[in-house]
Amino acid sequence: MASTTSRGARLAIAAAIGAVIGGAAVAGVALAHDDPMPKNPSPATRAAYVRHENFEKLGKTFKGLNDELRKGSPDVAVVKSSTQTMLSLANSLPTWFPRGSGVEARPMSEAKADIWTDAAGFTAAASALQVQVSKLNQAAASGDIAAVKAQVRPTGGACKGCHDKYRQEKKS
Ligand code: HEC
Repeated sequence: MASTTSRGARLAIAAAIGAVIGGAAVAGVALAHDDPMPKNPSPATRAAYVRHENFEKLGKTFKGLNDELRKGSPDVAVVKSSTQTMLSLANSLPTWFPRGSGVEARPMSEAKADIWTDAAGFTAAASALQVQVSKLNQAAASGDIAAVKAQVRPTGGACKGCHDKYRQEKKS
């Protein structure tokens, strides 16, 4: 009898630990934005985390540009610096994807394997972004806010064109 009871108690403890671990896993998903780079990362893991930061910067900069453009009289200096940042990020984007830097390097990565199996298609999608962001930056450099506004949609289209094919969005 006593052994049955202690077995039951052990099962109860195991269930409780399971609940705690399960809770931690759920919290881990909820805190996906705080997915810190592990200590002593391999080059591929480092690349995956740096890429994540670069994309967040690209997303924030593009959003900041849109917010500025929606103002009554957008600050041309803010618009210019935003498009310059976007251009340097778009130009370096092709170097952010060394082979082996997908989910195998960072489990939270949203990079699809097609990036490496369809390298030509991925390169074309990256080039399309460079073309559109160059136009965006030229419009800003000329101080023509209307032209910048007109170039926002094609730029967003180049983001989406790549995301639709090569990014697997995960809950975060
Ligand atoms: C050539 C392909 C490509 C283009 C063009 C592209 N992206 Fe992405 N983007 C990706 C991939 C792939 C990921 C997933 C990367 C990962 O998780 O490892 C991603 C992820 C992101 C993320 C999520 C960041 C994170 O890790 O949480 C943001 C934000 C983002 N992109 C914004 C943009 C914006 C804004 C543009 C256009 C100005 C853009 N991207 C253009 C391929 C692209």
